Amino acid sequence: RLKVAVIGGGSSYTPELVEGLIKRQGELPIKELYLVDVESGREKLEIVGALAKRMVEKAGADISVHLTLDRKEAIRGADFVTTQLRVGQLEARGRDERIPLKYNCIGQETTGAGGFAKALRTIPVILDICREMEELAPNAFLLNFTNPAGIVTEAALKYSKIKTIGLCNLPIGLKMQIAEFYDVEASKVDIEMIGINHLNWTTRIIVDGEDVSEAFLLKAAGAKGLTMKNISDLEWDGTFLQSLGALPCSYHRYYYMRDAMLAEQLEDLKTEGTRADVVKKVEAELFELYKDPNLAIKPPQLEQRGGAYYSEVAVNLMTSIYNNKKDIQTVNVRNGGILPFLPDDASIEVNSIIDAQGAHPIQVTTQVGPEIRGLMQVVKAYEQLTVEAAVHGNAKAALQALTIHPLVGNAETAQAILNDILEQNKSFLPQF
Ligand code: G6P
Ligand code: MN
Repeated sequence: RLKVAVIGGGSSYTPELVEGLIKRQGELPIKELYLVDVESGREKLEIVGALAKRMVEKAGADISVHLTLDRKEAIRGADFVTTQLRVGQLEARGRDERIPLKYNCIGQETTGAGGFAKALRTIPVILDICREMEELAPNAFLLNFTNPAGIVTEAALKYSKIKTIGLCNLPIGLKMQIAEFYDVEASKVDIEMIGINHLNWTTRIIVDGEDVSEAFLLKAAGAKGLTMKNISDLEWDGTFLQSLGALPCSYHRYYYMRDAMLAEQLEDLKTEGTRADVVKKVEAELFELYKDPNLAIKPPQLEQRGGAYYSEVAVNLMTSIYNNKKDIQTVNVRNGGILPFLPDDASIEVNSIIDAQGAHPIQVTTQVGPEIRGLMQVVKAYEQLTVEAAVHGNAKAALQALTIHPLVGNAETAQAILNDILEQNKSFLPQF
């Protein structure tokens, strides 16, 4: 019986995944679904778990949903382990977003100093999970959604033998956004993405068999709708897009429009707070809905979250692995020379062929110029240092990581932010 373990199963996103598993039963007969969480997440797990059970029952699907606080029980014998956990929950996210803002740096949960803090907390936990998998489910795939997904995936690839693939909903989200521009089904859109997680460039866009790469850049200039729910929809400048010759991802706004994004964050801080504060409210609302014993579907309100449709990504991937499909999906994998200007053992987010063995990155078809390569290299160097800092509690690597990050870029600021991060995360950082 095909078994999936969802670590962080109490997340408000879980109904997405359950919906995806129900829809795909024909191709992907998951029979055992283990939702596991930690003690402090027990209440959420019970609420969302009960909804998951109602969804399965209403759909008449043959899936047994198990709720547990015992991670090993969930992992034992699993075929797929997915991670959607958040170490320290939304409180910790709020601190990650606020600390950099004190120093006039972008405060974001995955990009810049906030993402760095999250990586320090998360990597030790993910490596513990990898060790448990090595013992209890050595052939299972680890599908990592936990952010910063690129950095966390790189740590798992470097420090464990588990077959790990990092996932993000941004590539599929962009496909949907492009499909909307052309008023076609998302399945008619093919894109070539080159980069690393939350920092990738779309260098080729095919709609309905036609190469619209250049035409789309003209459309994208000044347009709304090219972003995720969690990122402000500031428009791209046409001259800038032309000079870049590729479509930046939503997270690129933090780099290419740093000043405007920072100003907006500082403004929001005075009113609604950070994204964590907004998400707390959305979550509270969602969990109220989830408690309703008559609710047995994924409520549409879940689409207010930035991770909307992430289950498509997870389920597509599991389906292609299980059925040895050999189709193309954009995921986070070991570089292995595909981007020759990055280390071989770096994680990169590129189009990959998915088969029973996992994800195999494919050759890119477009030339990567210095404007793209340069930013990618510096952020990857930051990521490499961050993995080193997180795994070994290496304070020198930590300081250098923050210093070279383009969204910090100053040693004194990096030192101050690092001190704050270490101080405010003490109980989560056994490695330091
Ligand atoms: C994006 C990212 C995800 C991230 C999410 C945050 O879509 O791809 O990696 O988790 O947004 O959304 P939230 O609603 O939590 O701010
Ligand atoms: Mn993501």
